[in-house]
Parts: sequence; structure tokens; C-alpha cells
Amino acid sequence: MDYSEKVIDHFSNPRNVGEIADASGTGTVGNAKCGDIMRVFLKIEDGIIADAKFKTFGCGAAVATSSMATELIKGKTIAEAVALTNKAVMDALDGLPPVKVHCSCLAEEAVHAALWDYAQKNGITIEGLNPPKEDIGHEISEE
Ligand code: FES
Repeated sequence: MDYSEKVIDHFSNPRNVGEIADASGTGTVGNAKCGDIMRVFLKIEDGIIADAKFKTFGCGAAVATSSMATELIKGKTIAEAVALTNKAVMDALDGLPPVKVHCSCLAEEAVHAALWDYAQKNGITIEGLNPPKEDIGHEISEE
């Protein structure tokens, strides 16, 4: 299995690892199939993702995709963060091996779950945002 240099870089030297104590929203998602769990913390100020951090208990690709996903949304608007897809994360990492695509879905879902938490806490509706899935394993096929 070949990993791109960017994947190896973000795995070996992940950006934005940690927690945000007074996070505006947090999201935790897991994949029951592989047992990996990802948690994303967002600090949202004036509709902008002022900061994003993550903790991932998972495989190397999950660490690399969380690192890249948090990098991609920092400084962006809520709408731009909602529009984040696992494909955009993979593209930014110069791709992932097919059996590791689900790891990038975990990153997308964790970001969306944190945005959902933010919306719930503030009693707002974020356009285009669906309720989080706690376990993405049922829907993702690796074949
Ligand atoms: Fe499950 Fe990577 S093997 S997130």
C-alpha cells in the first residue's frame, strides 16, 4: 500500500492535535468496523472557524485526514466547512489507497458533527447540514 508524501507528512507531523477547552462545538464519530474514533473541536467566532483541533484514536490515514481536514476549514466560513467533503480532504492529501477511503469519511463526519453540535447549542439551523452519524461503518463499503 503506497501513501503519498503528504499523507506521510500529516501522519508523522499532524497539525492541530489537541482539544479546545471552550469549544463552540465538538463532534465525535466512530467506525465500528475498524474501531477508530475521531473527535473534532471547533472554535467559531463571527461565523468563521477561528480554530479547529482534533483527537483521533485510529489508524494513520485517520490521523492524516483529521490533520488535513482541520487545516482546510480553519479561517473558513461555516458554509465552507459544511461543504467540506472527504474527497476534498483526500485530494488535498494527493489521494489515499482505496481501502483507506473510509478514514477520510470519518474526518468529514467529525467536522460536520462538531458543526451540528454548535448549531444545537446556539439554536440555529445551518443550511445543508444533516444530523451526524455516530457510526459511519454501516454505510461505507471498501470494495
Ligand atoms: Fe478505520 Fe482508518 S482504518 S479510520
